[in-house]
Amino acid sequence: MLWDSLVKNQFAKIDASFLSDFREPGNANNRLAAWDPYDKSMRYFKFLFFHQIQAKDPEFFANYAKIGPTSLGNPVVLTSPSGQPINLDHFFSIEEFTFLDANLNTGELRHILEIGAGFGRTAQALVNLFADLEVYTIVDLPEVLALSRAYLEQVLDETKFAKLRFVDALTLGSGHDGIPTIDLVINIDSFQEMPRQTIEFYFRRFIDSAGHFFSKNAIGKYSPESVGLRGIDESQLLDVFSLGLSTQMIDIFNPDDLHLARTRHVEEYRPNASFTVVAQEPLGIFPYYHNVLYARDPTQ
Ligand SMILES: C[S@@+](CC[C@H](N)C(=O)[O-])C[C@H]1O[C@@H](n2cnc3c(N)ncnc32)[C@H](O)[C@@H]1O
Repeated sequence: MLWDSLVKNQFAKIDASFLSDFREPGNANNRLAAWDPYDKSMRYFKFLFFHQIQAKDPEFFANYAKIGPTSLGNPVVLTSPSGQPINLDHFFSIEEFTFLDANLNTGELRHILEIGAGFGRTAQALVNLFADLEVYTIVDLPEVLALSRAYLEQVLDETKFAKLRFVDALTLGSGHDGIPTIDLVINIDSFQEMPRQTIEFYFRRFIDSAGHFFSKNAIGKYSPESVGLRGIDESQLLDVFSLGLSTQMIDIFNPDDLHLARTRHVEEYRPNASFTVVAQEPLGIFPYYHNVLYARDPTQ
């Protein structure tokens, strides 16, 4: 029986040594309390995501419904209050759309350029939801461009797919490359993984002359131990710690640290003095990520 073996294996010797650490993650208390933070299941992910879904309003789900197929690739799906299947990737895309829609004159958006688009979830949402958009350019590594091209070809209708341009980051010249004037440059969860010189290249090449810049990146670095990651290769860590523009170590579960880091981060990612901050807000689900929208003053 379950408890016969449990008491023999885990509770056979209650002494000072047992008492000193029985509530540490992974120790005997995980059989008594109904949780263990080292649980190797989707339990905590699903609960966290479930609560985030409950907090959204009907308009959020109405927009989600407008972006077309969302299940290609077989993501983990939870259910909205009205019975709609929701996955985290497209949930983020609708959050990004909502933030931009609230803070931009979206009727004037003709050309968006996204640097580092992954499989294309943001492009899928914005091409469907910004009706006046004419061109959406994706700049990415060739292998990942092959994925976003194949993915977006399947989930977008022909007219919307025709608005997309795919640009290889590795052969990108410093010239114009036939890329039209950019109203908004987007970078999500990827400058933080690039060396400073690459980011500065993108600033000079696209962002400095664009109308707006939307960044959603991490506001600092954190120690792997603080989230319970163990046995991490030190040399890989040095690499990760040096990437991006917000490289200060912070406690991502300390509100004071988060507050200070956000203030620094907004300055670190401001392209140049002619850009001002139009809007900023932490990401709901992972508050050490920050949404920032900058606008360029065209007279400067
Ligand atoms: C963590 S993924 C984020 C993808 C997407 N923005 C999202 O949030 O779903 C990082 C992206 O940056 C891209 N990337 C990495 N280095 C790059 C570079 N030098 N230039 C352009 N994109 C790059 C990767 O190929 C990938 O698409």
